[in-house]
This record gives sequence, C-alpha cells and structure tokens, in this order.
Amino acid sequence: MSNSQQPPIRLNASLACADWLHLADDLAAIETAGIDTIHIDVMDGTFVPNYCLNLDNIRTVRKVCDLPMDVHLMIERPERYVERFAEAGADYIVVHEEASPHLQRTLTQIKSLGIKAGAALNVHTPVRNLEYVLEDIDLLLIMTVNPGFAGQKLVPNTLRKIADAREMFDAANLAVDIQVDGNVSLDNTADMVRAGANWLVGGTSSIFRRDLTIAEGAARLRAVADQARAERTER
Ligand code: DX5
Ligand code: ZN
Repeated sequence: MSNSQQPPIRLNASLACADWLHLADDLAAIETAGIDTIHIDVMDGTFVPNYCLNLDNIRTVRKVCDLPMDVHLMIERPERYVERFAEAGADYIVVHEEASPHLQRTLTQIKSLGIKAGAALNVHTPVRNLEYVLEDIDLLLIMTVNPGFAGQKLVPNTLRKIADAREMFDAANLAVDIQVDGNVSLDNTADMVRAGANWLVGGTSSIFRRDLTIAEGAARLRAVADQARAERTER
C-alpha cells in the first residue's frame, strides 16, 4: 500500500505524564516539538482502578494550548458526560466499547456535537466487536497495556490486534486512524507502526522520559515511526 494511502503518523502527548508542577512549560515544549495532539486520560476509579485528569484540567489546558485534544474516557457509561467534555474543549472523544452498552448511539451522540468519535478496546476485547460500527468511528484506540496506569509493559498480543484492525479497515476501504496507548516506547513503536498503528500516545515510555527532553523524546518517536512506516510502505 503506498504511503499516500496510509493515514499519516500522529504523535499524541499523554498529558497525564507531564510535569504538572511546570505544566505551562511542558505545554510550550509540546507545541514546539511537532506533537500533533494532546491526549487526555480521564478515569473514574470504577471502569479502571485509578483516577486521572478531569473536566477542569481540560478547560485549563484549552485556555493556553491550541493543539487538538483527544480525550480518552476510561469511565463507565461515558454517554452521560460526552456533552460536558465537548463543551470543555475536546476535539476527539474516545469511549470504551466495554463501557457503553449502546455504543453506536454514543458515537452518533459525539459526532452530533461536531467533534470526532473514537472507540477504545481493552487488551482482551476483539476488534470484531466493532464490526457493525466501523463507519461510525473516526479513531480506533487499541490499548497496548491494561488501562489505568503509566509505566506498564506492552502486552505482546495487542500487536496482532493492531494488524487485525488495519486489515479490517482496509477490507472495508476505510482510512480510520488507529491509536495505540500504553508503553509506546522507542523500542515498541516500530512493531506497532509496522502492524498498522498511526496515532502514537507518547507517555513515560517516549515523550515524557526522565533521560530526554520532550523535544528529544518526540523527535526520536517520530523518527522511529517514520522509519517503520517506510518499511510498511515497501511491503
Ligand atoms: C494507560 C496509561 C497510558 C499513558 C502512559 O492508561 O495511562 O495511557 O499514556 O503511557 P506510558 O505507558 O508510556 O507510561
Ligand atoms: Zn489514554
């Protein structure tokens, strides 16, 4: 498949991993590092055993940062809150298939608000669960770790799931963006991109590493992804 047919590589900075004591500095560094979106992890302590960012964080970031925000709702029954996240400034709202029993209605609700709709899958959830909503999603988020915590290790079987998802979209002739989230490291990214991922959530494994600046981490992540994309194109 030629490079032009494959959806472009996008870097997403996982803001939960930023230095919140110096958030304005990190946001400035993110904006000048060629990062494409701000990834906002929202957790309810029920769907995942943790809490994370919230509506006020989104409103605050929206005031000072113009980058698109993709909001990852790791919450039960997200349909209850999509309007508030849209009002707060989300450009993408991604809900978990496992958390929304009427997923197609939720995706339609998100799009009716004039923003992009995404579906997220936990590690165990097959891509085929989305078979009847492929046309309703702008973005598929494949969790490459069990959601809820930074600093975890890639679950290897999810690489096969990325390839299955890309195959499914290609067969349906749909250029849906596939986002990977969790241990998107400088070592794992090539495999993820070669499998078909194109949106890369950079957390403590790449963009917010202790040994690199945000700019350095983003540049290395982009370089690894571009190299893997070139290999995928040659296939
Ligand atoms: C899982 C994590 C990731 C986050 C951390 O929900 O919260 O979304 O981006 O990334 P890593 O795995 O690189 O620390
Ligand atoms: Zn996330």
